[in-house]
Amino acid sequence: MGKKKYIIGSCVVVVILMIVVLISTSYHKLASDEIGLQYDVINKKLGSSAEREGLHNGPPGFEFIVFPSVFRSLEFSLKCLNKDGVEIKLDVTYQYKVRAVNLRTVILDFRNFTGYKKVLTFAGEAALHEACSYFNTSQFQSQRAEFQEFVRKKLIERYNILYADITDLQVSNIERPPEYESAIRSKERAREDIQVALNERPRLLTEAETAKREAETQAEIIKNKAESDARILTNKAKTEASGILLQYEKEAESYQRILGNSGLNLTTEGFISYLGVRVIADAKNPVYIGLQSPAKSSYT
Ligand SMILES: *[C@@H]1O[C@H](CO)[C@@H](O)[C@H](O)[C@H]1NC(C)=O
Ligand SMILES: *[C@@H]1O[C@H](CO)[C@@H](O)[C@H](O)[C@H]1NC(C)=O
Ligand SMILES: *[C@@H]1O[C@H](CO)[C@@H](O)[C@H](O)[C@H]1NC(C)=O
Repeated sequence: MGKKKYIIGSCVVVVILMIVVLISTSYHKLASDEIGLQYDVINKKLGSSAEREGLHNGPPGFEFIVFPSVFRSLEFSLKCLNKDGVEIKLDVTYQYKVRAVNLRTVILDFRNFTGYKKVLTFAGEAALHEACSYFNTSQFQSQRAEFQEFVRKKLIERYNILYADITDLQVSNIERPPEYESAIRSKERAREDIQVALNERPRLLTEAETAKREAETQAEIIKNKAESDARILTNKAKTEASGILLQYEKEAESYQRILGNSGLNLTTEGFISYLGVRVIADAKNPVYIGLQSPAKSSYT
């Protein structure tokens, strides 16, 4: 009797345990940042639509293939070759998220999130290399915003066929090779120097022009002064000459009078002695003449 009771009791315990196990393996929870697709491990059957946060029941022993339901970041720091074949260093970050409606296709193609993320990373890298090859070196300098837009366009193209959306794209660094940078800098410096020289030219020309005009004016002044000095000297000489002429005329008249009308009768010798007296009287220095002094001067 006791043995029978024991067997029944054991059966009840086993049944209850089985029920507990079945119930517990038929429920799975998804967190608030997750979406998932049910996968019936025993029958190898995949659910049809994505399920969101909460407790979900399914066939016993099913599990969820879980994907993030929020945007996740991808960061790239890579070197690419641009249109000119110059190596460019790029730092790019953006965020991506799988489209829930396509989750079944994604899982069939890529199995789980790990595989999917790997493919998205490859696709992102390819998009960056492609975008890089469309821009030449000077455009990387002058059209950074356009480059970022172009990267976004290429990423969207590639992620579209992988059923992912992207947001928050940032091209945070574009670096050209150091040799290129220094070459550009020295070229810019040379251009600035040329500009400075060009700006300087009119000033220097004006300065030279001014100096030339000053010299010309100075020359004119000197020439005018010389001419005026010459005129003054000429006039002075003329005045002196006419003064002297007048004096001689007067003197000549005096002699005329002495010789002619005065009644005096001078011998040649007497006249010469008269002249001698005049010369000596006018002389400023002592005068020595070998003349016989007049024996008598009939005019005194
Ligand atoms: C995803 O699948 C691969 C094999 O395809 C496996 O090695 C990996 O552990 C899986 N990852 C997760 C998170 O289940
Ligand atoms: C770079 O591309 C721009 C636009 O296509 C072009 O105008 C420029 O000449 C190019 N520069 C060089 C150095 O090739
Ligand atoms: C002057 O003297 C000379 C001789 O010495 C004489 O022959 C002459 O007639 C005189 N003349 C007069 C105007 O006196």
